[in-house]
Amino acid sequence: MEHLVTFSIHDSVGVIAINNPPVNALSSGVPEGIKTAVHALEGNPRVRSIVVIGGGRTFVAGADIHEFVEVLEGRGSMPALHPALSAVEDCTKPVVMAIHGSALGGGLELAMAGHYRVATPEAQVGQPEVKIGLIPGAGGTQRLPRLVGIAKAAEMCAFGEPVSAREALALGLIDNIVEGDLLPGAIEFARTITSARKTRDRIEKLARVDLGPFRELCRKARKNLIAPLAALDAVEAAGKLPFEQGLRREAEIFEICLHSDQCRALIHVFFAERAVAKVPDIPKGTPVSPIRRAAVIGAGTMGGGIAMALANAGIPVLIRDADESALERGMTTIGQNYDRSVKSGRLTPEAAEERLARITPELGWTGFEHADIVLEAVFESLPLKQQVFAELDRIAKPGCILATNTSTLDVDAIAAVTSRPQSVLGMHFFSPANVMRLVEVVRGKATEKSAIATVMALAKALKKVGVVVRNGFGFVGNRMFLPYMEQAELLVEEGASPEQVDRALTDFGMAMGPLAVADLSGIDVFWRIQQEAPSGIGRRGASAIEELYAAGRYGQKSGAGWYRYDENRKPVSDPEVLALIQKEHRKLQDQEIVERCVYALINEGARVLEEGIALRAVDIDVIYLTGYGFPAYRGGPMFYAGTVGLDKILERVRAFEWQPAGLLEQLAAEGKTFEAIEPA
Ligand code: COA
Repeated sequence: MEHLVTFSIHDSVGVIAINNPPVNALSSGVPEGIKTAVHALEGNPRVRSIVVIGGGRTFVAGADIHEFVEVLEGRGSMPALHPALSAVEDCTKPVVMAIHGSALGGGLELAMAGHYRVATPEAQVGQPEVKIGLIPGAGGTQRLPRLVGIAKAAEMCAFGEPVSAREALALGLIDNIVEGDLLPGAIEFARTITSARKTRDRIEKLARVDLGPFRELCRKARKNLIAPLAALDAVEAAGKLPFEQGLRREAEIFEICLHSDQCRALIHVFFAERAVAKVPDIPKGTPVSPIRRAAVIGAGTMGGGIAMALANAGIPVLIRDADESALERGMTTIGQNYDRSVKSGRLTPEAAEERLARITPELGWTGFEHADIVLEAVFESLPLKQQVFAELDRIAKPGCILATNTSTLDVDAIAAVTSRPQSVLGMHFFSPANVMRLVEVVRGKATEKSAIATVMALAKALKKVGVVVRNGFGFVGNRMFLPYMEQAELLVEEGASPEQVDRALTDFGMAMGPLAVADLSGIDVFWRIQQEAPSGIGRRGASAIEELYAAGRYGQKSGAGWYRYDENRKPVSDPEVLALIQKEHRKLQDQEIVERCVYALINEGARVLEEGIALRAVDIDVIYLTGYGFPAYRGGPMFYAGTVGLDKILERVRAFEWQPAGLLEQLAAEGKTFEAIEPA
């Protein structure tokens, strides 16, 4: 354990180094080590000041989140951060915190217990605890306002976004930026400091601020979340209470958040996003080919979005469309999207130009022979896609990855027309592809592991979340969406209004209601998918989509679908829909709407898992969190099922007279959750 924190003396400066890879989390042993090291150096007459630095790639990324899980599961106790932080703050010799990488959560709290802070220009600091449903619990809500004022501390603790070293310097959160090597720079800085300075005693920035308007903003921008408002309560206490009492208030609020369902769910999400990157049978050392050049086929909405995602990541990309006017339209849309980013201040004009310059329109096949990956995004038709892949097989260089952006079609049937099915896979992007984070990576029967590893690495480079799934109608996301959607349709047929269905589900936390989603994606698209879906998937007798389709109500694009749309595409309710769709006039409770839609999702998720289309429950959760607007504070559909209880869900599924998934029955009988499923 001693190696977690080491200390040495450089002339008159004591240096404490934290070495707990990969991110120097304050796991058990680290805070104790810091305390011991501070006391040792404080007692050493040769030492006049102390520098604390992180070994490896970062300062300290916070408390060890695994330890919170242990506390929640009754297997451990809370990490003892306060004694270490007090040892630092109470040290009679000046303590300088030297920050590189990130000082997040407990990392920033440790840094603020120090008397001075210096950082590299690239460093970032923040209190991201709200993202896992918590508030800072080691004095962050009390020390941060003392350094940056109540208003800024409120923003940082409630939204959890980090600030750059330069902004931190301007805020007074750090005292200096070290250009060049951090340790010598920090030692140099420490030599100039003669006295300690406790953050807890600095009250000059504690002028009271009315956080009322900010609270309102949080209620809207962080709908249904507990932690952001709790963080505001704790920050507010800093302006009202003496430091020690403020700490006690923080501890009480922290404890409430820690034991909330939201915290459990958000911690699950934190680890889930990292877990999906580790595909069970694709070991870490699997060869990954560099993607230096890419090509996209199809200049429609998806193709354009995919090309932008590649260009944004610095990869030159050809975009092909055989139809000249379609290609021109596609390029115009791409240009307009970049213009919008410049106008909104998200991109500089130079950066936008650079990105646009990486996208080369192409009518023929010139340059395709150099591509390391080709992504096909033509119309969703198997014969058409097969034709494209047969052509690609002739043109693409050996080893080039051939990816189809199909959302439902059989990837093996596409691979079968090539002489290299090992290089063929699906990359199912979500619209708009330059924005949405999810990519379902569809593994065909013959797809080789290195091709999967390569596109998973590519997804990461595109700042997206790749989730590996197996081939099967609609893969994971769309397959599960169909029965969910089917329930929404049936609910309207039985007497609910589209608004009630959508609102019940947005109140539950979904980013959009299913009927609004159908209008956005196109009723014609859903109609086609429903026609093609194998029996059993989302076909329990609803006819609403067929009625809307037959009435030419294709959704937003035709000005009417489940709703009517004005010229700004704002939905308004439309009595015609009720006349067309409703067969009964039953009064439905929101609870029934949520149960039927969400349990349909879960029941199908169980089938997807049973059939091995999804490898693990966590893969389904991440797909729904990143691609379908499922609320993070509920952890994803399969995690949520565990919080409700599979026995309770099974009981409702039977009450609705649906066929329960075998896996749901089995796990409910065993008293387990979906997390118990290990990939085959
Ligand atoms: N506690 C426990 N484990 C942590 C952790 C923490 N606070 N922060 C990161 N890790 C783990 C990750 O789970 C991952 O583990 P894995 O390799 O087994 O999957 C590993 O450290 C690397 O993290 P990763 O996020 O993949 O690295 P990155 O370089 O992309 O990002 C950070 C680094 C620090 C920006 C990011 O990990 C982060 O935001 N961490 C959480 C910070 C936080 O919320 N702190 C407050 C906690 S109360």
